Amino acid sequence: MQINVDGARIVADLEKLATFSDTESPVITRIVYSESDQRARAWLKEECIASGLTVREDALGNMFARWPGTDPAAPAVGTGSHIDAIPHSGRFDGTVGVLGALESIRALQRGGFKPRRSIELLAFISEEPTRFGIGCLGSRMLCGSLTPEKASALKDRQDESLDTVRHAARFAGPLEKVQLPAGYYSSFVELHIEQGPILEKENIPLGIVTSIAAPAALRILIEGDGGHAGAVLMSQRRDAFMGAAEIALAVEAAAKGTGSVDTVGTCGLVEVFPGLANSIPNKVKLELDIRDSDLARRDSVLQKVAHACQEIAARRKLQITSTTLNADAPATCGTEVVSALESACAEEKIAYKKMVSRAYHDSLFMSRIAPSAMLFIPCKNGVSHRPDEFAAPRDLGNGALVLARALATLAS
Ligand code: GLV
Ligand code: MN
Ligand code: MN
Repeated sequence: MQINVDGARIVADLEKLATFSDTESPVITRIVYSESDQRARAWLKEECIASGLTVREDALGNMFARWPGTDPAAPAVGTGSHIDAIPHSGRFDGTVGVLGALESIRALQRGGFKPRRSIELLAFISEEPTRFGIGCLGSRMLCGSLTPEKASALKDRQDESLDTVRHAARFAGPLEKVQLPAGYYSSFVELHIEQGPILEKENIPLGIVTSIAAPAALRILIEGDGGHAGAVLMSQRRDAFMGAAEIALAVEAAAKGTGSVDTVGTCGLVEVFPGLANSIPNKVKLELDIRDSDLARRDSVLQKVAHACQEIAARRKLQITSTTLNADAPATCGTEVVSALESACAEEKIAYKKMVSRAYHDSLFMSRIAPSAMLFIPCKNGVSHRPDEFAAPRDLGNGALVLARALATLAS
C-alpha cells in the first residue's frame, strides 16, 4: 500500500495549536485545565471528528478518538501523546505525537486501508507535572498506577484540588472509571521529538526507543528561622535557603557521582519564604527531579539525597521533610512494536537508530498495560522545553509516515 502523508498539514495543525497559549507564539504556555488548554482540546476534538473519528473523553480529560476496525471486539491499537505544555516552552513537545498521528490516520484512510483492529488516537491529559507536581497523570491513571484516592488528594499551587479543577473544566465523572479494562489495547506507539541532540548530530532521521528511563520527583520542605538581614549575626542563623542550597549541590554531586552519563538530577523549583532581600529565609520549598535508565542506580541517588538532608538538618539545626511525589520504574519497549517500527522504516527506506529515552513519556505507563514503543524525530540543536524547540517539516513527515505504516501492521 502506498501511504502519502501530508507534511504541510501537520505543520499547519501545529501552527494552529500553538495559537492556544497563555503566551505569545513562539513561546507556548498551555497548562492543564487552563482556558487555553480547554480551547485547544475543543479544537482537537473537532479536528478528530472532521477526520471521521469517534471521540470520547474520560472523567480526567483523557481524549480517545477511535477509527473503528472491522473487528471492533478486538483490542485496539493505541497511539498519541499530550498537548499540555510547560510554561515558556515550544510547540512540538507532545503535540507532534497527537497531530502527527492524526495525519498518519488520515493518510491510511486516504490510502484505502481498512484496519482489522480499531486504531485509537489518545491525547493524554496532564503529561507535564506543572500543575500537580506529578507527570503523566492521565496515562498513570489509565493504567492503574495512581489510585483515584491519591489522585483526588492532589492539589495545585493555588491549593485547588484536582477534583475542583477538573470539574470546573467539565470533566465530572468518578475517577474510578478512568482505569482501562485489562486487554483494552493490543499495542501502543507514541511519536515524539527526541528532546536530545543524538539524531541531529548523527544525521539519522528516526529513533526507535527500546527503553524509557526511570524518573523520580521529590518535594522537600526546609524550615529554619527568619529575621532581620542586618541584625541577626551569622553565627545565630538557621537560614532555610542555605540548607536548600546545600541540598541542591548534594543532588548534583550524587548524580555526577554514579559515573554514568545516564544519571541526571535537577533542582528546578525553589520557593523562598518570605522572599525578600532583607529578610532571612525561614522556609524553602524545593522540587527535585532525578532520573536514570537503571532503577538501582537511580534509587542509590535518592538514598544519597536522603542522607544529605539528614546531615544538613542536624548540622544547620533545620527541619527538613521530604515527600516522594513519584518514583517510577523504567520501561522496556514491546518487541513486537519495535519490530513493526523497524519494518516500517525498512519499507520506507528511512534510516533509524535504536535508542533510550531519557525523558519520560506517557509510553512509560502505557507499557504497563500493553506492548509499547516510541518513534523519535530529530529536534534542532537537541533543545526542548524552550520556545526555540523546532522539528523540520521533512522529519515530521518521516515520523508520520513510519508511524502510519507501523499502525497498519499492528492493526491488521
Ligand atoms: C517530560 O516532559 C519530561 O520531563 O521528561
Ligand atoms: Mn515535556
Ligand atoms: Mn512530551
